[in-house]
Amino acid sequence: MSKPLSRLLRQEQFAFLARNHSGWGGHLDRVRAFLGEGLQAADPARPVLILGAGTGLEVPWALAPSLSTGWDGDPWSRAWTALRHRRWPPWVFADLTGGMAELEATARRAVMEPWSGRRRDRETAAKRLTGLLPSLCPEPASLRAWIALNRPGTILAANLMGQFGVVAQRLVETRFGGPPWDPDPERADPLAEAVEAWTRRAIEAFLAVLRDSGADLWLVHDRAVVFGEGPLDLGPWEPDWTRQLRGQAGLEVGDPLAGLDVPTLLGVEAIGLARKERWVWPVAPGQRHLVEALVLRRP
Ligand SMILES: C[S@@+](CC[C@H](N)C(=O)[O-])C[C@H]1O[C@@H](n2cnc3c(N)ncnc32)[C@H](O)[C@@H]1O
Repeated sequence: MSKPLSRLLRQEQFAFLARNHSGWGGHLDRVRAFLGEGLQAADPARPVLILGAGTGLEVPWALAPSLSTGWDGDPWSRAWTALRHRRWPPWVFADLTGGMAELEATARRAVMEPWSGRRRDRETAAKRLTGLLPSLCPEPASLRAWIALNRPGTILAANLMGQFGVVAQRLVETRFGGPPWDPDPERADPLAEAVEAWTRRAIEAFLAVLRDSGADLWLVHDRAVVFGEGPLDLGPWEPDWTRQLRGQAGLEVGDPLAGLDVPTLLGVEAIGLARKERWVWPVAPGQRHLVEALVLRRP
């Protein structure tokens, strides 16, 4: 895995753990119960794969069958997990999108003239990168290969997918030496749109691998990020998450999954899922996440 990506994931992890957790109790109870149920339902005779295993804050490793493997790009994730859970599971440290290294190299090429090593001005570099991004097609080849070799019966994705876009943005910012985005939210920003389209392709490719894996899937992810302090309620489940959010007037709602619908990409209607639930996670003052948890069982 590329150095900039592992450094970035380590920094993101520290920032995540350094946050004030005092309002997280309800979320942690629910996510641990959900992932714990997935681990207990897994066939203990077959490998189990835990993607985005992180430091094990959300993953009740005590319930994981002995053939469970963690997967996370953060180079410290297994050590943190060992400290937290007194367990040293097999681990894969690799980029789950398969496309971050190419994204990073492309941003570097856009920022720097390869023949002179000189930096381009920010506007020219942003235009170049915007032009280059549509040709990048992230493909999670390592994940596909691991699954083909090990044939896991159950795969958990533990709050990971919503990070693909954030990490992609941070990689681009690192190469540019600061945010290259248009600061005016009212104006169209072609580079931001191109990075969002890249994120969409990365999530589609990742979910295609999970869909084709034949494994039972227990997925939990940020479905939306809501900024602002006003009241926010959830109505009964709606396939379209925007319709489930109540009282969001005056709040700013972002979609870390770039407009994608996870059940559709898994090849099922929401009705074909064994479980589906959503809850609100108060991450920080003025920032709440709508978390979605889905279970796909195979016949
Ligand atoms: C919000 S954290 C999840 C926390 C984790 N479930 C736990 O219990 O600690 C997201 C995790 O996904 C990992 N991650 C994000 N993007 C990744 C990528 N492209 N490849 C591999 N891991 C990634 C991060 O390193 C981080 O540990």
